[in-house]
Amino acid sequence: MEKPYVVCHMLTSLDGKIDGDFFSAQEARPALREYGDLRNYFHCNATLYGRTTMLGGYAAGVAEKLPEAVEDFGQEDYIAPSDVHNYIVSLDPDGVLVFDSPYSERKGRAKAHIIETLTKKASAGYIAYLRSVGVSYIFAGEDRFDCPLLLHKLKQKFGIERLMIAGGGVTNWSFAAEGLIDELSIVIAPVADGNRSAVSIFEEAGSMSRPPVPYTLKEVKSFEGDGVWLRYLKK
Ligand SMILES: NC(=O)c1ccc[n+]([C@@H]2O[C@H](COP(=O)([O-])OP(=O)(O)OC[C@H]3O[C@@H](n4cnc5c(N)ncnc54)[C@H](OP(=O)(O)O)[C@@H]3O)[C@@H](O)[C@H]2O)c1
Repeated sequence: MEKPYVVCHMLTSLDGKIDGDFFSAQEARPALREYGDLRNYFHCNATLYGRTTMLGGYAAGVAEKLPEAVEDFGQEDYIAPSDVHNYIVSLDPDGVLVFDSPYSERKGRAKAHIIETLTKKASAGYIAYLRSVGVSYIFAGEDRFDCPLLLHKLKQKFGIERLMIAGGGVTNWSFAAEGLIDELSIVIAPVADGNRSAVSIFEEAGSMSRPPVPYTLKEVKSFEGDGVWLRYLKK
């Protein structure tokens, strides 16, 4: 199936954590800057996040109660009218996230149209809600995501040629485990963080046990402040 070229771009501590206290350490600052600067390096016009990460800065919250659907739109994919060709792609299997606008507008980032990716578990009320707010949506999977189909639809329906996947860990592993990540871009901050509850770059969700996935090294660069940038390609 045709799909975009997929880059997973992440900032980690020395022990591979992607959240936790290491973020606020003074010594992590240059790596944070480098991570932000490198976001544009890959020329991706779409970035995909999991529900947890969406809640951290792209969605307005979780729907408490949605009004009854006034119209049943069925479970057809929907491309909302928009002349913006940058995208934030949100993994929201049940359909719970709410939005103030169909666009994400963050300082220093290109304006981006929001695409919700849903499974068949999303309710008619939620679909009617997305229509009312002007957010695009696609379906991929019954109750878990069908990741190859999801990527195929992003290319076919939105013309996305290059996609950045940027966490969190559950999201990253959903795609990596199926061999769908073409390139890994890992910025390592020179800080260790032994927090056992912090999420790591790849996290298996429940019953999704899969064999390890090998990559080959493409490039290593160190930068000011003792951080390192690693690039790996799919084997
Ligand atoms: N350091 C970095 O570069 C970086 C970048 C981004 C995020 N983060 C951090 O990562 C943390 C969040 O990581 P996370 O792993 O907990 O969350 P996540 O990957 O952002 O989201 C996990 C949720 O997304 C949904 N999901 C993801 N893959 C799915 C699949 N294949 N099928 C069905 N649902 C799927 C599930 O939602 P349901 O629970 O609704 O089923 C799942 O619980 C945050 O603390 C954030 O700050 C770090």
